[in-house]
Formats: sequence, C-alpha cells, structure tokens
Amino acid sequence: MSDALEISEEAVAKLLSAALDALNEAKTVADLKQLRSTHVGENSPLSRMNASLKDVPQDQRAAAGKIVGQARAKLGQAYAEAENRIAKAESAAKLLKETVDVTTWSPRITQGARHPLTMLQEQAADVFVSMGWEIAEGPELEHEWFNFDSLNFDEDHPARALQDTFFVEPVDQRLLLRTHTSPVQMRSLLSRPLPLYIVAPGKTFRTDELDATHTPVFSQIEGIAIDKNITMAHLKGILLHFAKAMFGEEAKVRLRANYFPFTEPSAEFDLWHPNFKEGPRWIEWGGCGMVHPNLLRSAGIDPEVYQGFAFGMGIERTLMFRADISDMREMIEGDIRFSKQFGVVG
Ligand code: PHE
Repeated sequence: MSDALEISEEAVAKLLSAALDALNEAKTVADLKQLRSTHVGENSPLSRMNASLKDVPQDQRAAAGKIVGQARAKLGQAYAEAENRIAKAESAAKLLKETVDVTTWSPRITQGARHPLTMLQEQAADVFVSMGWEIAEGPELEHEWFNFDSLNFDEDHPARALQDTFFVEPVDQRLLLRTHTSPVQMRSLLSRPLPLYIVAPGKTFRTDELDATHTPVFSQIEGIAIDKNITMAHLKGILLHFAKAMFGEEAKVRLRANYFPFTEPSAEFDLWHPNFKEGPRWIEWGGCGMVHPNLLRSAGIDPEVYQGFAFGMGIERTLMFRADISDMREMIEGDIRFSKQFGVVG
C-alpha cells in the first residue's frame, strides 16, 4: 500500500481513542453502521495498518503486530458492547411506543342495534298485547292449504299463479313461502280456544321485483278476533286505536269496500296520517273484514254463535310513513347508518 501508515504506539492509541469516543457517542443502529466503515471496517486506519504489517521490517513486525492487534481487539469488544447497548435501547423504545393499554375503552367497538323493522313490529304487537291480545306465529314455509285453500281462495284464483307466489320444489308437496300472514288466522282458529284475540307479525314473500316500493321479502302484522256479538264497528274501533298509537291522537282510519276471499264483507283501510312530510293525507294501509263464515265452519265453529274480524297490514309501509322513508330498499340493505337513526336498543 502506497500510503502506508506509521505504526507506532502513539498513533495506534490515537486511532483507538478516536474510535472509542465515536462508539460512545453512537445512539442508533444507523450511527453504528456509519462508524463501522470509518473506524472498524476494511478501510478504517486500524485495518489498513493491520494490512500493512507485512511491509514492516521483520525485526519490528512482532512488536507492531502486538500493538495493532491489541487495539483491534479492544475496538472489536467495544463495538460489540455498543451494538448490544443500542439494540437494547432501540427495542425498549419501540416497545414503549407500541404499548397498548388493553383496558382502555375503544370508541370503535359499536354496540349492536336492533333493526327498525323489528322494533316497529314489536311496538305494534305491544299495542295489542296491552289490550289483552296474544301473539301468535306461523311458519314462513307454509302449506298451500293454509295459505290459500283454507282461506277460501278459488282453485284458479290469480294469487295462486306462479308469477306471484314462491312455490318450493318439489311442487307436488304444495309448499310455498307464505304470501301473507293470513294463514295464521286458520292456524289459530284450529288450535286455540274461543274467544280468540291474536296478533301475528311476521315475514311474508311475493315474487315482486325489488324497487322503491316493493320487496320480495316483506313483513305484515295480522290480527284476528273471534267472539260473540262482534261487528264491524269493533274492527273499526281497534284499527283507530292502533292508528292513534302509531301515528298520534289526530290519526284517523276509513274503510273502503274491497274483496278478499276470506272476509265478508271486506274492506281496504286507509290511514289519516297527521304528520306526513308533505302535509296530512290519507294513505292506503291494509286489508280487513269480517271473518268469512266458511273459515269458521271449517274450523268447527258455529258462525251463528261466534263472529269475528281480521286485518292485515304491511310493516314496511308503516315504517315508511312513520319515519318519512321514501325508498324501501334502505330498510333491507343492512347499512348500519340507516338503523342508527332509530337509536340503539339493546
Ligand atoms: N292478507 C291480506 C293481504 O295480504 C290482508 C288481509 C288480512 C285482508 C286480513 C283481510 C283480512 O293483502
């Protein structure tokens, strides 16, 4: 090597102390890396001195080798210590920075909310329960007999057509997804003692395309009351009470003649919505009527002794009018921001 360094005790001590000072100052792995190339690596003065030992005259080589060797050994040890110290400090700092307090409340944990439709369904049922009515349920996968035949539907009634009803394969089992909650009427007539006052909220299904005002899966609440001396006035009174409970004291109901095979006479009923967004107005709400004597007879009840009424209405429609929702799809998309507006109920 042309720029041979003078190997003297003094020169080596100077290099060593400069290297040790630098090591003491080093605080990060990056500092160490830098320092390694200037003071420890192949091109550092001490290493170059070591490499040039072969050029030292034979008689002085052992002494020079000892000086350089001892200095390099010291430096190597000091370097290892520094490396150790810095690694420990860095990992301690990292741990401190990443400390997680597992006992802290996280604002990101959201509480579950019940769906507004479920809440409304229960509120509606509660109105009847508070009058002493009972809640009944029927299966969503229903027999065609309960959904249609037992309710006095003709063999060729258009509602039975495949384009309106989800029949379930194999079709010869005559099973379908119930198109309304009215099959619970016949199920209750057959299984409950008289007098009978029941409400049946639940899911219903029709082959409608999903749009702002239709959904193939929707829900209804059905009511049926059978007792002695029941008239249409009772029906209207109950509907009025329910309307007021849902829409306020100023709510009103009116009946318009209509046809359902399982009620006679039958009517559609409208609700006077006192707080409608665009001003108070009548809106179609559901269907109702006096239970057809054929239903009573097939359940073994004498229509001369017992009479009753039944009604059914859509829960989605009711929620739309109560909460000013113009698109039904919002109710079924499952977006938590929609449900949240109705509050979180445990
Ligand atoms: N089931 C009827 C419908 O879905 C509503 C109704 C219920 C009518 C009870 C009369 C009596 O349209």
